Amino acid sequence: MPFDWADVQGIVVRGNNYPRSWHMFFSFPSEAAGKEFLTWLRPRLSSATAFPPDEKPEPLTYLGLTHNGLRALGTEALLKKVNPAFSLAGVSIHNPFPSEFIVEPEVRSLGDFAPGDVPSTWWNGKFKTEDIHAAVHIYAHSEPVFAQALKDVRSRAASCGVLERNPRGDGQPPLEGCMLADQRKVHFGYVDGVAQPDVDWENEVPGPRKVDRRHFLLGYTGPTSIPSSPSFARTKELFRNSAYVAFRWMSQDVPAFEKFLTDSAPLLAAAYPAAADPRELLAAKLVGRWRSGAPLVAAPLNDDPSLASFDAFRYQGADAQGLLCPFSSHIRASNPRDQPLSDLVRLSNPEVPRLIRRGAVYGSEWRPGVNDDEDRGLFGMFVCASLERQFQQIIRWMNKNDFSDVFNGQSPVPQDPLFGARGSEPQRPPFRIPLPNGQAIDIPLPDKPFVRSRGTAYFLFPGLTTLDRLLLSAT
Ligand code: HEM
Repeated sequence: MPFDWADVQGIVVRGNNYPRSWHMFFSFPSEAAGKEFLTWLRPRLSSATAFPPDEKPEPLTYLGLTHNGLRALGTEALLKKVNPAFSLAGVSIHNPFPSEFIVEPEVRSLGDFAPGDVPSTWWNGKFKTEDIHAAVHIYAHSEPVFAQALKDVRSRAASCGVLERNPRGDGQPPLEGCMLADQRKVHFGYVDGVAQPDVDWENEVPGPRKVDRRHFLLGYTGPTSIPSSPSFARTKELFRNSAYVAFRWMSQDVPAFEKFLTDSAPLLAAAYPAAADPRELLAAKLVGRWRSGAPLVAAPLNDDPSLASFDAFRYQGADAQGLLCPFSSHIRASNPRDQPLSDLVRLSNPEVPRLIRRGAVYGSEWRPGVNDDEDRGLFGMFVCASLERQFQQIIRWMNKNDFSDVFNGQSPVPQDPLFGARGSEPQRPPFRIPLPNGQAIDIPLPDKPFVRSRGTAYFLFPGLTTLDRLLLSAT
């Protein structure tokens, strides 16, 4: 069966790179209200064919549904029709939804322990994660289209009786994504979005060096080493071309990050006399790439912006000792590539989990002394076929670098320096930079992580046929 591009929401397959985005949340007070709203929205959703790579139509609109949203839409009745043994309320073998999608994001799996990070403080305290039934994401590049799209969605939601849940307060603009002056960069000054899995969307057997689509799309049969679910044959077909998306609202403390670089850079200077800029080298060591995007394994001591898009590197041959790219750096902890996983970890993770990363920067660029206190950060959207085996697993590895024997003997267990949940450890692990003489520079990290969690919600981005079937099921 040929792959149906028109059935997949475009954002799953392709990044947007639009200068503005709205990220809106809604609750359905009744099945009828939710269905009326989504029936209006359905023809406005952008499939993967809606925007060929060199065109930029607008607006682009995408829909995510939470487990509570699916329940509110009466999905239970549909699933019972498909499989009479099904029970939506509980986790059972007949339930096509995995438990982590049913129970909502929680502290243990995310490491959001710090007082300002815990779920009770999320969404600015304006609503609870369980109140979110749907998210609508709108991308545009011209102001009138952007404003009109917002007006249309809001007025339609209101006329259907669907409630908007706005972390910025009723009547305020929704969460708004933007771009920095250098459009490839995120706050902290790094180019982002370089490394993405090179997915073979069309073929059942992926081409050489391509990533199997079943890591991201539901509803395809495959080996158990690949997460694609659900496994029950009839629900498999019902959810084909849907994907799970973890939406994570992350606030970045840019002044604290830059201060940390300034304060800690002298610790590197003696060990790297050939480095032109120890402060920038430290920034590169934290992430594994220079702020230009160039990876440390290819540009170890000094930046080389000509390598900004270079991603065809591995760690084992080039840097098995972590001398170029520290083991705990953000990109090595979130994708260790060919670095061997420990035997125990390999039992449950035969392959390194992968994520497709979408999202948008929010808040204005930091101007020292001018807008220090403004909130800024990233709306991360992480696409996968299993929230537990991909998104949560990677977060766990970032929070606790214990997935490979290279970390053995380090106590406390190291963490991703950019993001690690340092509050979870009684002792704060330093950031370790291994040196050729067998020693290491251990850089103390501030107690407060540079990135704070302000809300996380799990969505199913339904394939468009899936959505049609949900909407057509009898009320
Ligand atoms: C504010 C928070 C974050 C910032 C500023 C950030 C920044 C970055 C940067 C600069 C890169 C390198 C550029 C690239 O390879 O595209 C990167 C890569 C990556 N990040 Fe993050 N990130 C953040 C949060 C996260 C989270 C929460 C996850 C996981 C759930 C994550 C997973 C990844 C992955 C998988 C890569 C690619 C690694 C590779 O394949 O080499 N990031 N991130």
